[in-house]
Formats: sequence, structure tokens, C-alpha cells
Amino acid sequence: MAYSAPRGTVDLLPQQTKNWQYLEQLLRTIAFNYNVKEIRVPIFEHTELFNRAVGDTTDVVSKEMYTFQDRGDRSLTLRPEGTAGVVRAFVENKLYVNPDKLTKLYYMGPMFRYERPQKGRQRQFHQFGVEMLGLENPEVDVECMVMAVTIIESLGLQNVKLHINTLGDEISRDNYRQALMNHFKPGLNELCGDCQARFEKNPLRILDCKVDKDNPLITTAPKTIDYLTPEAKAHFEKVCALLDDLEIDYMVDTNLVRGLDYYCHTVFEVISEDPTFGNAATLGGGGRYNKLVQEMGGPETPGVGFAFGMERLALALDQMELEDDDALDIYIMPLGQEARDLSLQIVTMLRANGFSCDMDYANRSMKAMFKTVDRLQAHFAIIIGEEEVKNEVVNIKCTHDKQQETIPLEDIVAYIEHHLEGGHEHE
Ligand code: HAM
Repeated sequence: MAYSAPRGTVDLLPQQTKNWQYLEQLLRTIAFNYNVKEIRVPIFEHTELFNRAVGDTTDVVSKEMYTFQDRGDRSLTLRPEGTAGVVRAFVENKLYVNPDKLTKLYYMGPMFRYERPQKGRQRQFHQFGVEMLGLENPEVDVECMVMAVTIIESLGLQNVKLHINTLGDEISRDNYRQALMNHFKPGLNELCGDCQARFEKNPLRILDCKVDKDNPLITTAPKTIDYLTPEAKAHFEKVCALLDDLEIDYMVDTNLVRGLDYYCHTVFEVISEDPTFGNAATLGGGGRYNKLVQEMGGPETPGVGFAFGMERLALALDQMELEDDDALDIYIMPLGQEARDLSLQIVTMLRANGFSCDMDYANRSMKAMFKTVDRLQAHFAIIIGEEEVKNEVVNIKCTHDKQQETIPLEDIVAYIEHHLEGGHEHE
């Protein structure tokens, strides 16, 4: 019986993990530059957390969660996103007691959504996310957006646009909700069953319905921006002015409402116009959530954040020629059993001295072993035959200048150190 990976999951093979490690390192470096610290939270949480934080009427909660009862009969859910868990941890560990007033956190890891798999959309996917908790200043919204743009630029991605919009504060949202209800009421029976249910509970969610997205009732719906309180309008205008000052390229997209319930004020998405991304053009998104910490049982603490889909960022790396810097220092080529025994000792000793090395265990021909040296781009090949074992020496060949020398066993480390340091041709 042959097994295949579950639908919507993928194996990342060594050729891909190299790109992923590069991506992860780049993201960590950018996070470090922004003074954003890493947090690691569980991959599953109590189901109730997501129902409450992300919202019962969202597609993510109502259609896409991996929910199960554990053996203690608790309802648990594989996290569909990172914000809820991070906010839960922020409250539980009292991270709000912070003299700096702003707590900046990032996370990276797998998320799970039961979605129809396609290029750039999986059931197990990965996010890099950032949450900034503690202040409602527009500067912090802008810091998040600038960080998102920096990530895109560092990856060398072209034709990517920052779309921004505002949902306003609670009063703005109430006004808007009423306007949406007035708008949808006369044509309600033209919308799908889900939308009819959303109408009473959460009419905003009608706007991100995948079934009705081209229905004229949706395309002509009122815009959040027309229902803002003066304070909410001022917040958004300041965000835009700060982005202008920083010469960040963005567009106000009044249709952008995001698919999760916790947002208020600024929302944004980073969208690629490059056709290679197809339906996975939204590389990342985020926004402000000023009530979530309180809803999770913490003190009133505003927050803002974003997350990128890492598969989508990795697609960009597939198109880049990454520099190959994983050349091995040494490959050992034994000829015969005794030489192999000695090689195992040498390979162990060299690794203990901090060198990267490997050896042949397969008793292959000299020609086959030299091919491996090429494939691994090893700086040195060490060749050991019966004679060398007897005389306690090895033949060492530098693959760069093709020089070969016979040296005593005890000189190997010094020889390699000298040559690796001495000639930059080995780097
Ligand atoms: P989101 O828009 O649901 O936001 O997801 C963020 C990103 O995750 C998307 O833009 C997309 O790139 C990626 N993504 C989502 N679903 C999939 C999937 N099935 N396969 C591949 N990639 C996917 C959030 O999750 C919010 N927690 C972001 C946030 C953080 N807001 C504030 N703080």
C-alpha cells in the first residue's frame, strides 16, 4: 500500500527547504531590524478562541477549521491563523505589563484551513506574522505597512501594490452596518443562502462572499469610508499622510474589508499584479484590532498586525537564482574496508573540529566518488587506500588548484585550516 500526503499538504524537499531557510533568515533579519521579537504559540488552541476572535460568521471559522475532540473531550482546533493565539498568549502571560508600551511580536509556522487546494493555496500552509500591541497611534499602523513593504522589496518582488482601507471605529462600523442592511434588504433573496444568514448576524461578511462576489448588489454596496466618525477619518488621514511622507506607494481600495471579524480602522493587503501568482495574488494582509485584547480577557490594549503567506513568498524565490553557499569542506574517499574504518574516525574527528564533511560508505569506484566530490562542491577530497592506512597518511587534494599532497594523519586539521584560511579561492 502506497500512501500519499493528505490533500492540500505538500512535502518540502531539500531543493525547496534551501529557499525556505533563506526566506526564514531574511524575515528574521528584517524582524530584528524592526525590533520585533519572536513568539512561539501552540499549533492548536481551544476552538472557542477562534470562534470568538476570528468570528463565527467568517468563512475561516464556519467552513474552514480543522476542529476535533481530544481524548479528554475538549474541542480543539488547529490554528487557522496566528493573531488569536498570540493575543491569547499576550493576555495569559501579561505581556501588557511593558514599560515600553508597545510590544512587537512575530511568528512563523504552519496554519490550517480546509480550503480548495490550488497554486499558492493549501490546507496546511505557513504564515509569517507580526503583531504590535499597546498603542493606537497611526504611526504603528504605518510601521506595520512599511515592514510588509520592506519584506516584499527585500525579496526583489516587482509589481506589488499596497492596498489600504479603513473600517473605522465602533460607531463608524455600526453606521456602516445599518447602511449595508438598508442596501441589501430589498434584494436579499438574490443572494446565496449563506449571505441571507449573514444579513442579520454580520452583513459586512456578505462583502467577502465567494459565491456572490460579482453580484451587482455587492459591487454597488456602500463604502466604509463614507460612514466614518470624524475621529476615525482623522486616524485614516494621518495614516495616509505618514505613508506619503515616507514615499510609500499605496492605493486606497474602498472594497477592501478583510475576511476576519476583529478588524477596525486601518486594513491593508499586499497584492501582486504579476500573473504568475494567479489566484494567490494576495501575498499578505492585516490591519488594526483595538478590541481583541479586551475580548480575550485582557486590559484595553489596541493592536495592529499583518501576516504573509510564506508559500506565496517562496514562489518568488523559485524565480531567483540563490547563491549556492552550502559547499562541503571535505569529502573522504576510502578504498577498501580498512580505509573505510579509518575514514569513519577521520570524518568524526573533522566534524568535531567544526568542518563540514562526509565520506563514502558504499564501496564505490574512484570515479563515482570523484563525481560526488563535484556534486557536493567539496573544497578537499581525501583519498585513503591500503598503503595510506599502513603508513598512517592520507592523500589530500584541493579541488580548486588540483594540487594533491600526502600528509600524516595528525596534520590533517592544521593543513585544512591553513588552506581554507590562506586562500580565498576556497570560500
Ligand atoms: P489572512 O488574510 O487570513 O490574515 O491571511 C494572511 C495571508 O495568509 C494571506 O494573505 C495569504 O497569503 C496566506 N494564506 C491564507 N490562507 C492560505 C492558504 N489556504 N494557503 C496559502 N496561503 C494562505 C490573517 O491570517 C491575519 N491573522 C493577519 C493579521 C495579523 N492581521 C492582523 N495581524
